[in-house]
Order: sequence, then structure tokens, then C-alpha cells
Amino acid sequence: MSRADDSPWWRGAVIYQVYPRSFADGDGDGIGDIAGIRSRLDHLCTLGVDAIWFSPWYPSPMADAGYDVSDYRDIDPVFGTLAEVEALIAEAHERGIRTIVDVVPNHCSDAHPWFQAALAGGPGAPERDLFWFRPGRGPGGDQRPTDWIGEFGGETWTRTTNPDGTPGDWYLHLFAPQQPDFNWDHPRVRAEFEDILRFWFDRGADGIRIDSAGLLVKDGTLPEVRPDQPHPFHDLDGVHDVYRAWRRIADSYPGDRALIGEVWLPDRQRFANYLRPDELHAAFNFDFLGCAWDAAALRESIDGTLSAHAPVGAPATWVLSNHDVTRHVTRYGREDTTFSFAKKREGIFSDLELGTTRARAAALLSLALPGAAYVYQGEELGLPEVEDIPPELRTDPMWPRSGYVDPGRDGCRVPLPWSGDEPPFGFSPDGAASAPWLPQPAHWKDRTVRAQTGDPHSMLELYRAAIAIRRAEPALGDGELTWLPAPDGVLAFSRGGGFHCLVNLSGAPVPLPAGGEPLLASRPLDDDLLPPDTAVWLRVAEPAGTAPV
Ligand code: GLC
Repeated sequence: MSRADDSPWWRGAVIYQVYPRSFADGDGDGIGDIAGIRSRLDHLCTLGVDAIWFSPWYPSPMADAGYDVSDYRDIDPVFGTLAEVEALIAEAHERGIRTIVDVVPNHCSDAHPWFQAALAGGPGAPERDLFWFRPGRGPGGDQRPTDWIGEFGGETWTRTTNPDGTPGDWYLHLFAPQQPDFNWDHPRVRAEFEDILRFWFDRGADGIRIDSAGLLVKDGTLPEVRPDQPHPFHDLDGVHDVYRAWRRIADSYPGDRALIGEVWLPDRQRFANYLRPDELHAAFNFDFLGCAWDAAALRESIDGTLSAHAPVGAPATWVLSNHDVTRHVTRYGREDTTFSFAKKREGIFSDLELGTTRARAAALLSLALPGAAYVYQGEELGLPEVEDIPPELRTDPMWPRSGYVDPGRDGCRVPLPWSGDEPPFGFSPDGAASAPWLPQPAHWKDRTVRAQTGDPHSMLELYRAAIAIRRAEPALGDGELTWLPAPDGVLAFSRGGGFHCLVNLSGAPVPLPAGGEPLLASRPLDDDLLPPDTAVWLRVAEPAGTAPV
């Protein structure tokens, strides 16, 4: 957290993402839950994080692991109860940890009462206006209204059947058919979500993570996607009105409530528009997440990020992994270390030892950069992507929707290993009735929290040490960065106060600058040499009054 007294927490926090289904199982059904999270809060306390973001925990048919919400003001019984969530928020607060709730405004579940009423009421039902119901094209209306391709691949319209059994209108879903898109032109949709924000702020949530934040507003004339035309549903200007209204709500609560957008946009200027002073507080930096493990590419991503954020006064965020992407230990061990959804996910050779070495360096890099840093559960244990989940156990709709080409995101969602020598590795209580909902690899016995605790070479102890230094170091978190002269392939920067970070991506050892005292290194230094794929934090005596510009 930034030490500057006047800097709100969200500008420099370390934020840990909990994926409830896979964090810890309190009741032994093989699925993570609120009781499990409450029983493991000490892990997050010891890790030293400032805030927890919880992926969705709402009632849901789980067609997209809970990102298909049927009630935004309650908790799915598989996870627990609203009272337990209220206790969890209170217990986190007692430990000085803030909480961020995931709100999914682009779409709901097809089991949501509004959508059910829209279907049951047939053509002309007022609830149909809350979604995108349209007649089909062609004779008999049997062609979908547009040829838009969905975010999971595949078509974006599903035809309904009228209450009398005849073929009816089509409805829009940018994701799976079980996730109908809301019509954000309708005032009732806007009012509903404003009320949902208040519901969670009233329960003490310190922030809201906004799912698919750039997709809400659509061009109602439904044009096809054409390269030379404005996109009909990505990043339409009208979406900013929604977030201005949300910002007014966040600002009306005491104690720095934050809005954090999931905005996937290659155009950094358009991305920064979401972060104007009267809109969102922060947004995930997917540019950095997808960047190659390459000095020039990383430097370009960091500079581009900082220069896009500066004019709007928003803090940058630094993200390496989340529940949607291939875990970075695996990515960084591949020949092509970039991430994009368009690329193949699995079956690509990865040198996991190399990937782990780089992931350790990446941790020190991202925790030293100015702004907030995100840690996806299991990242602190150095977990790799699980690439051998049997097809019949895969649950991600990406798998069937890609025609069984893209195995989807289950491989980064495998339940965490806590202790012990065999599955469920303490994820579920002793004697649990069910196995974890996805199988854990046997070799994770070396990666449990218990096995790594106290091992100075473990990923977990590296994260604990790095976050502890970050908390104590006034220069880290929010603030400025100054690049330092460095050999080719080396990133070197100062955060002020004599704090320097060096990352060697050159492939060969490089000499450390004279006079620096190492505070932490991602792997042992070779006397005064910084090995390849290694990061070091140094304390350097700086002349009084020297500050980054
Ligand atoms: C976001 C979520 C992802 C989900 C999708 C649809 O991208 O992070 O997990 O599948 O939105 O809600």
C-alpha cells in the first residue's frame, strides 16, 4: 500500500483474487465456499495483501462458473449464505483487509426472473425490452438477426419458442446462450444496477469489480461488424454515462469505495477514457498481462501504460494472471510467452522450471511498478496451468463453444493445495465426502502452502517477503518511476528513496551497479552479477533531494 497519507488505498494496493469455487472447501462437497474462505483468511493476512476481490458467489446455474447470475443480492447455496458473506467482510475488515465484490452487468443468467418473465410473457412482454429480443431475418425469421461472433466464439443469438409453441424471436448473448445480454438503453436496467451497487456498498464492500465493463452498450441498429465502421458492441461511447452514474454512487459512500473495470481494449487511449476522474478508479492492465517476457516489449507496455494513465490521473494496475488466462508460470516457460484469447492454450511445450524462474522475477517487477498489483490465487504458490484435465471433467463453456478446440479456462481454476501429500491437499476437510471439483495434480504436494512455508527458496516466501517490503517501503505502491541506464535486455528503474528494481531479461549475467544493497532477489545473486531471468530490489544511496521525475 502506498504510504502517502493522502493517497487512497486503491491507488497502491496489493489485491488478491479469490476464485471461491477453488479457494477452500469448508463443507466437504469438493467445491470451495465462504466457510472455506473464512477459515483461510490468515493465509491472506500472512501474505500481506491489502484487499481481496471475490469472483462471483451469487445464485447461478453455473453455466459460466457463476458469471451467469440469477440473483445479484444473494449467495448461491453451494457457497453459503448472505449472512456468511457479511461475516466474511467483517472478518476481513478486522484484519485490515478490504473487500471487492464482482458485479456482472452486461448479462445475467437465463434463470434470472426478468429473463424468465420475458420468455413466459411471449412477444410484447415488457420484460423483453430489458434484453435484446429481435425477430430473425429471412422468410420465417429463421436466420439470426446479425452474424456477430461471441466473446467465447460462436453465434450470439438464440431463437426462442413462443408460449404457444411456435418459433419466436431471437435474443442476444455475447457469451453463452445461458447469458442473455441486458439492454442498457432501458432505465430499469440502469436503476437496478445502481441499486445492486448500493446493496454491496451497504454491506461494507470497499470496491466493485465490473465484469466485461466495455460491452454494456450496443448499437441498437444492429449493424454487422466491419473493419471500417465503429464496432456495434465494443467500447461504445454511451457506456461512459453508466460509469459516471456509478462513480457518483461510489463517491456518496464514506471511506474510498473503488470501481475497477474489466476492460479488454488494445487502444490505450480508449482504455484510459474509462479512468477519467468522474468514471472508474482503476482497470485491469491486460496489455501487461499479455506482454511477452522480453525487455523491450515490457518496457513499451510499462511506458505505454503509465503515459496513458497519467493524463487522467488514474493509477496503473499490474496483472500477471487471473481466472480467464493461462497461468503465467506456464506461459513464461513457452517459446511464445504472450497471451491472447485467439491463441491456442494447451499442448504447447513449456519449460516449467524456466517459467517459474521468470514468474519469480515478474513478481518482483510487478510489485515494484507504480500503482496497484493483483495476485491471482495460486500465483503465490507458483502453480502452473493444469493441462491434463480429462475432457469429461471440463466445465468451461469455451470448450464446447469452440467446437472442442479451445480447452477453456479450467486449467487455471484447479482447487488450491494447502497441505498434505495427496489430494485434496487440505482443500477440503479431512474425510470429505467428495473429491475436489477438478482433479489436483499429484505433484502439487510440493506446492502446498504448508510445504512452502519456511522454505526461503519457495515462491510463497518470495511473495511474502516482497509484499512485506512493499508495505514498509514508502516509495512503493502509488507514485512515480524513473528509468535508469542499463545494459541491453535489462529493465532498471528507481522508485525514489534509493529504491531500485533491476530485471535481467538479456539471457546472460549482468554486473550489478556498485554500491547497491540487495533487499530481495528473485533467485540467488552470483556475487556481483545478476543472473538471467532474475529481478533484484536494491537500496542505493541517493544524494539528498533526489526524487524521480
Ligand atoms: C469476464 C469474466 C469471465 C466470464 C465473462 C462473462 O470476462 O472474467 O470469467 O466468463 O466475463 O461473464
